Amino acid sequence: MQLPTLLLLGSGELGKEVAISAKRLGCRVVAVDSYDGAPAMQVSDAREVIDMLHAPSLRRVVRRHLKPGVGGGFIVPEIEAIRTEELLSLERLGYSVVPSARAANLTMNRDAIRDLAASRLRLPTARYAYAESAAELRTAITAKKGTGLPAVVKPVMSSSGKGQSVVTRAADIDAAWTYAVSNMRGDRPRVIAEEFIEFDYEITLLTVRQRRVVAGRRVPEPRRTLFVRPIGHRQERGDYQESWMPCPMKPALIRSAQRMARTITAEIAGPEGAGLFGVEFFVRGNEVIFSELSPRPHDTGMVTMISQDLSEFDLHVRAILGLPIPAIRYEKAAASAVILSPGPIAGPPEYPGLGRALAASGVQIRLFGKPSARKYRRMGVALAVAASAAGARKAATRAASLVRVEPGVTSKAAPRTR
Ligand SMILES: Nc1ncnc2c1ncn2[C@@H]1O[C@H](COP(=O)(O)OP(=O)(O)O)[C@@H](O)[C@H]1O
Ligand SMILES: [Mg+2]
Repeated sequence: MQLPTLLLLGSGELGKEVAISAKRLGCRVVAVDSYDGAPAMQVSDAREVIDMLHAPSLRRVVRRHLKPGVGGGFIVPEIEAIRTEELLSLERLGYSVVPSARAANLTMNRDAIRDLAASRLRLPTARYAYAESAAELRTAITAKKGTGLPAVVKPVMSSSGKGQSVVTRAADIDAAWTYAVSNMRGDRPRVIAEEFIEFDYEITLLTVRQRRVVAGRRVPEPRRTLFVRPIGHRQERGDYQESWMPCPMKPALIRSAQRMARTITAEIAGPEGAGLFGVEFFVRGNEVIFSELSPRPHDTGMVTMISQDLSEFDLHVRAILGLPIPAIRYEKAAASAVILSPGPIAGPPEYPGLGRALAASGVQIRLFGKPSARKYRRMGVALAVAASAAGARKAATRAASLVRVEPGVTSKAAPRTR
C-alpha cells in the first residue's frame, strides 16, 4: 500500500517529531509554517511558507499537495493559529483533517471548548467568565457569581502562557487586562477569567482515538479509546518546564479523568475522527478538574520520546493512518525538562555544554534547530530515564541546565577573528 501525504500545519518541535514518525512509516511529509527553516521543515519532503491564518493561502497549499477523499492524504494541524473555518470548508470538499475540522475549530479559542466542556458536557472546570473590556473583567472577577480572587486571566486566543497572569488583588485587574490584550492573537479583545485552582498536581492524559479503513471506507474503530499513563508536569509563566511519568494518582481518579477525556474527544472528533489528544486536568484532593485539551500531540508529552516504545508522535501517526496500536511498553520512570533561550538571538544559536549533558547515562537531548531565538523560546528538551520519577526529573533538569543557548558565530555582532 502506498502511504499518504501528511500536510503539517505548523512546523515546530512537535511537528518535527510527527514528521519523523511519519517518515519512518514511509509517508510523504509537507511542512508548513510562517517562517523558513522551521524544525519540521528540516526533516520533511517539501515545505511551504505561508500565513496559515490567510484562507486563500491555506487552500492553495492544500490543493497543491493533497486530494480529497480516502487516500488523498491528511491535513495535520500542529498549532492553534490556523484559519480553521477554512479547514471546515476543505473538509466539506472531502479533504481529511486530523482529527476533524471541528476539533481544530473548537480548540482554536479557549471560549468555544470551555463552553462545550462545562455547559454542554457538564465536565467539572474552574469557575470562569469572559470579558471584553477592563470593566467587564472587573465584574467577571469581583461580581457575586464571578471567579473571586485570586483569578487567572488569559486571552481566549493565545497559547504557551502568552498574555496569561494571576490576579491576586482587585487593584491589579486593569494591568491583567492590558497584559492579556497586548499579548493575544487575532483582533478580538476577549479574555477568560478563571478561578485560581490550588491544585495538588496537574496532568496531561494523552488520549488516542482510532479508526479503520475497510474496503476503501473509513469506519470507526470499535476498540476502546486508548490512554497513555498520566503525565505529571510543572508550569512557569503558563509554560511547561518539566514533565514526568509515572505520576502517582489514585486509580479511581485516573478512571474519572479517562471518562472525561473519552467524552470530550468523542464529541469533538466525531465518529470518524482519529488521532491523539492531550487532555489537561488539575487534581485537588479527590477532585479531577478539566482544564483544556489539544487535538494533537502535547508539549508535556515530549517525555514519551523516552518513557515508552511508542511516543505520542508514533501514536498520532498510527491513529491517523489506521494502523494497529498494541499495548505500550513503558520504562520504569522518565522525565523531560525544557531548554529555553535566556534572551533574543538573531541567528542560529550555539549550544555549548551539549557534550557534558550527554555524558550522563540514560540522558538524551533533542535540539529543535530553530533558526533564531527570543527570551524563553523553547530550543530543545532534555530527556532522562531512571528508577524513579524523582530521579528522572533530577537527571533531566540537570542535563537541560548544562546545555546553554548562546549566539552562534553568524549571529554575533563582531565576527571572530583568528
Ligand atoms: N484556573 C487555573 N488555576 C490554576 N492554575 C492554572 C489555571 N489555569 C491555568 N493554570 C496554569 O497555567 C498553565 C497554562 O494554562 P493553560 O490554560 O493550560 O494555557 P495554555 O493553553 O497556554 O497551555 C496550566 O497548565 C496551569 O499550570
Ligand atoms: Mg495548557
